[in-house]
Amino acid sequence: MAATTRASAVPAALDRALALLKLDARPADLQAAAAPGYLDLLGEEEPTSTGIGQDLMLTGVVPMIYERWWRPALGRVAKGLLGPGMADEHRIARLLLGLTPGDGVLDVACGPGNFTRRFAHLVGQTGLAVGIDASPTMLERAVRDSPDPFGNLLYVRGNAVELPFRDRSFDAVCCFAALHLFAKPFVALDHMARVLTPGGRVAVFTSCRTRSAPLRTVDGLVGARSGIRMFEHDEITGALAERGFEDVRQRVSGLTQFVGGRKA
Ligand SMILES: C[S@@+](CC[C@H](N)C(=O)[O-])C[C@H]1O[C@@H](n2cnc3c(N)ncnc32)[C@H](O)[C@@H]1O
Repeated sequence: MAATTRASAVPAALDRALALLKLDARPADLQAAAAPGYLDLLGEEEPTSTGIGQDLMLTGVVPMIYERWWRPALGRVAKGLLGPGMADEHRIARLLLGLTPGDGVLDVACGPGNFTRRFAHLVGQTGLAVGIDASPTMLERAVRDSPDPFGNLLYVRGNAVELPFRDRSFDAVCCFAALHLFAKPFVALDHMARVLTPGGRVAVFTSCRTRSAPLRTVDGLVGARSGIRMFEHDEITGALAERGFEDVRQRVSGLTQFVGGRKA
């Protein structure tokens, strides 16, 4: 199949993804909303800023260096020297999400599509990968760097704290390196649970506060200054269990945690 040219064309997966949107989230002028190469559901609106950690994602510079430099370097600091590298993160996401051909997968706060485009390969031509993010500059980069050979990949500009998708519309939901930036992370988790089908899988990579008292002072301060929320050790696993997830698993690495679960 010929590769789709994304920068100028309406994304090939648009029709399929439209069926997953809540009726009130569908744009009145679809052509205009899809003109950037991603589907813009926010227009002038922007999610509440939680601080510099989130504001940097809206700049032009960070998306340019994000995938190659920014994410690996900051990830290394947060995960610790012996923690998983980027290739390991992709492997962890794959394991927790259990993607197979034909699945629908949502990548929440997808940034420049560094995970979304790989998910699109895993779910293949009959599957669908949707990346949602609030930052136009991140999404421009995502569109530019995602060739979409299967016509199964769509980027959406929307708010993770108010996902615009219908209930039970995805088989898997990923949210890596972002939950700690959201103004209402537990509302975002409500939405992730809501849009998953029964048996659907979630994978989250986010912050995790240390249990050592002196270090808690430091990570508390860093978190407060940057607007990055530091979750307690059992906060995310507990929140997933409360939202009806089973087989909840956690791997802590430095000041981060990977958490996965399956919707009952
Ligand atoms: C650090 S990047 C993570 C990108 C990718 N998931 C990864 O693991 O590398 C965080 C992303 O969260 C997005 N973001 C922050 N708050 C958001 C919100 N309320 N709704 C949607 N996206 C949001 C930012 O625009 C940014 O692209």
